[in-house]
Amino acid sequence: ADLQSLSTMATPATAHYLVNAETPEDACTALSWASWEGLQVQVVGGGSNLIFCDDFPGLVLHMALRGKRWEAVNGDEATLVLAAGENWHQAVLYAAGAGYRGIENLALIPGTAGAAPVQNIGAYGVELSDSFVSLLAWDRQTGEPVTLDKDDCLFGYRDSLFKQQPDRYLILEIRLRLSRSRAFELGYGELAQWFDGESPDSPLAVAEAVMAVRRRKLPDPEQLPNAGSFFKNPVVTSEQWEALKAEWPDIVAYPTDSGVKLAAGWLIDQCGWKGYRNRTVGVHHRQALVLVNHSRGSGKEILELAGRIRDDVLARYGVLLEMEPGVVPKACGLDFSA
Ligand code: EPU
Repeated sequence: ADLQSLSTMATPATAHYLVNAETPEDACTALSWASWEGLQVQVVGGGSNLIFCDDFPGLVLHMALRGKRWEAVNGDEATLVLAAGENWHQAVLYAAGAGYRGIENLALIPGTAGAAPVQNIGAYGVELSDSFVSLLAWDRQTGEPVTLDKDDCLFGYRDSLFKQQPDRYLILEIRLRLSRSRAFELGYGELAQWFDGESPDSPLAVAEAVMAVRRRKLPDPEQLPNAGSFFKNPVVTSEQWEALKAEWPDIVAYPTDSGVKLAAGWLIDQCGWKGYRNRTVGVHHRQALVLVNHSRGSGKEILELAGRIRDDVLARYGVLLEMEPGVVPKACGLDFSA
């Protein structure tokens, strides 16, 4: 089966087997079959956070489970339940359109609801974990369904239990707590500038502002294949930060609880990579953190470019960039553990 259309980076690859799961039963049956056959399994949602680098010798399980419902509507609050295969952006518009707040800053993030907890999607000062209640998953180790609460999921910046134990849980549906009265998060520079001190009258107005801000800088994967931010923003200690700041006074960074988060886009941009392109792949001309696939480049070409960028940033700033999307098959490609 052809995988190119299953990943937003659109690199050519095939899978030995492909199952399109429309119900939890489809997904669990496919998993049991693969385990019986001794096959590796790769789960795919919207494919916006993985790079296919070579043909996959096992089963690709495409999560196409649909369904959304409101649960426990209580005063100002309500719980939104989304099946894993629901399109994330459509779910944001659905919630915001109903007047519920909490995920409007996460508009236009590509991918599915079931993939959202894996990397704890975040943008413009909000992360999924801020509204997350629990999820229903299939535990592949015990062969039982399991409910995992927010604390169980070990959410961090672009991190979760599901990144730490990648082959254990198959996410089937997620549960979010939203509110009609929660304060909007408008602190992020570009969003603050958009509203310029005025308060937005609805979560939909915030979602629309986020969409406009994103469209200015981030390429639409339908038009120019990409996987969003290709690297995480690296977190350094305050001592490292002081040393960097002394040498590079313009460096862009944000304080966090665990250290200082550097803008990887700035580091890459300063190394001269923004707008670079070779015959097939390149670096986006408006956001250096996004690698793009101009003309059917392979996963290996993408990783080769990523390796050169990582080496340059390391040589100049002494900071090691960590890749954000997953690589399939895992053994393929560069060693990013350096
Ligand atoms: N910058 C440059 N040159 C560039 C890109 C960025 O100088 O080419 C500097 C600018 O000063 C800018 C700063 O870096 O102000 C930060 O850039 P931006 O606001 O675009 O945010 P980011 O840190 O590059 C992160 C997320 C995005 C998310 C935005 C907004 C990560 C890895 N990326 O990007 O998430 O949309 O913040 O919250 O945390 C994604 O994960 O796929 C993604 C797009």
